[in-house]
Amino acid sequence: MSHILVNVAWPYANGPRHIGHVAGFGVPSDVYARYQRMKGNDVLMVSGTDEHGTPILVEADKEGVSAQELANRYNRVIAKDLCDLGLSYDLFTRTTTTNHEHVVQELFKQCLKNGYIYKGTQKVAISPSSGRTLPDRYIEGTCPICGVDGARGDQCDNCGNELDPDELINPVSKINGETPRFEETEHFFLDLPALAEANLAWLKTREGWRTNVINFSLGLFKEVKPRAITRDIDWGIPVPVKGWIDNPNKKLYVWFDAVIGYLSASIEWARRKGDPEAWRAWWNDPETPGYYFMGKDNITFHSQIWPSEMIAYNGAGSKGGETGKLGPLNLPEQVVASEFMTMEGKKFSSSRGIVIYVKDILARYPVDAVRYYISVAGPETSDSDFTWAEFVRHNNEELASSWGNLVNRVANLIYKNFGAIPELDEDSMTSEDRALLEETSAAFDVVGGLIERHHQKNALNEAMRVVGDINKYISATEPWKIKDDEKHLATVLHVAAQAVADANHLLAPFLPHSAQKVWEALGGTGTFSPLPHIEEVEDLDNPDFHYPVITGDYKLGVNVHPWKSEAIDTGAPVAKPKPIFAKIPQEAVQEELDRFEEQLSQRKAAEAERLAKAKAQLAEEEAADKPAKTAE
Ligand code: MF3
Ligand code: ZN
Repeated sequence: MSHILVNVAWPYANGPRHIGHVAGFGVPSDVYARYQRMKGNDVLMVSGTDEHGTPILVEADKEGVSAQELANRYNRVIAKDLCDLGLSYDLFTRTTTTNHEHVVQELFKQCLKNGYIYKGTQKVAISPSSGRTLPDRYIEGTCPICGVDGARGDQCDNCGNELDPDELINPVSKINGETPRFEETEHFFLDLPALAEANLAWLKTREGWRTNVINFSLGLFKEVKPRAITRDIDWGIPVPVKGWIDNPNKKLYVWFDAVIGYLSASIEWARRKGDPEAWRAWWNDPETPGYYFMGKDNITFHSQIWPSEMIAYNGAGSKGGETGKLGPLNLPEQVVASEFMTMEGKKFSSSRGIVIYVKDILARYPVDAVRYYISVAGPETSDSDFTWAEFVRHNNEELASSWGNLVNRVANLIYKNFGAIPELDEDSMTSEDRALLEETSAAFDVVGGLIERHHQKNALNEAMRVVGDINKYISATEPWKIKDDEKHLATVLHVAAQAVADANHLLAPFLPHSAQKVWEALGGTGTFSPLPHIEEVEDLDNPDFHYPVITGDYKLGVNVHPWKSEAIDTGAPVAKPKPIFAKIPQEAVQEELDRFEEQLSQRKAAEAERLAKAKAQLAEEEAADKPAKTAE
């Protein structure tokens, strides 16, 4: 048994998550964790909502609530969505806990002590109307490199170059169209150049990473600059330095704190279970691998920023230093980043209405249909497109017809003929019978090996190939025609049931909800695939703060259902089966497309209205300001 850390990217608590998000970090991390648990490994899977920084502030302003209120609202929405998807977090928490703040400040202080954090100045964009800093990506202008309009202050999507907002020609705020002013302010910087050698050395020892991910990561080290890790902003974790800690307008940069969430959530998990040092087995032992699941836009922060923060904390950069009391912290084994998913050919965008929210798709379709689609057609190693037509096709042809009918047919034949799992007469087994069970047993290594190497699409295809072969076995043996040889019928149905049970094990990491039902349909009892639940908890260090967490008991004491063929229980009663997978009517495709079109035009109108209002308000304020200024 080994310890395995599964770290899942932290969604921003600035709105409900859509299926593009959960395709990247959600389902793949859960499939991996569930598989590793079935293998008998001791998995710790953590995440939470990312609640600081400008993404939260900007949305809070839009909705007219405080940042904490906004975070509370969407933390709850997101936790519910992810729980409903069956994602088996040991702890899904949030970044506004006191525990997280303490851990982040501990890391900051040790890095500062070790000399990897230092003070300097930085030019920042300020909104003249609000006096607030404007995040880089909320500034738009003409790209100084390729000349295209609409380049963002952090990056030009046209030529792909990273930009600073003050380099843009004619920069304007995306919030209200005003021209920002630029000012030099004091900030703390993470000395990435002093950490680059160790960071790159680690990266070069990585094996088995996806090509895009390792190439992109290595590319980050062509030119390494220090990075500001504080912001002129009133929402975030206080900077633990005298003269800064009480400054309401200086906070840590959201990404500096968010990546530390993996560690703080592990600590919170250990504290909650009453064994406060238990997290160390997943963090301080260099033999314990940590797998990080995310979309590709997060690679920089997991291949460079987070490893560099840990190297700095460990005192292992070019300036040396001491390891802090939480260390030595173990660098990632693998950054498992997926590509992007689009929707009906368009880039996902909540503000433009190109979106299908998790709760909406779950309200209309079974959760495992969604998980299946993401697993079979998600953006694992190349961009992929979500289409309703394909969603319905995969569900109907593969889940309902191929797998669902198989389960139903086998359970029904057993119910009708025996009412219980019939006895296997080994002597009367044919070579076909043996070949099928050999195939299903052998599939565990094949499918498992693919999941271990993060080839989940291939893994699922292999599992479904097994399902196809079981179907062929049923067609070839035609058990419904076996009339007066009860022993033979019993053997065929026992073999079929065993094969279905094996396939169900293989599919369980992908389809935990239906795996439970298939298990029961074949006479199984108890929990087959454990599901997460939400618990309301009190902040460990602040009795006034309460929040929901996702957690669960996924080990159930022992590894009841291992990753191998488990002999089915002869004699277990089998009832008349209820269908486990339903076909989605073909009309649903057009209905969904119409709904999508309507949503697009609604959002377009709403966004135009919002921007017009903001501009009008700005003009009004400027007009009101003018006479006063002339009078001065
Ligand atoms: N909130 C970020 C995003 O949605 C992801 C943060 S991952 C973290 O892109 F672990 F670093 F927090
Ligand atoms: Zn450009």
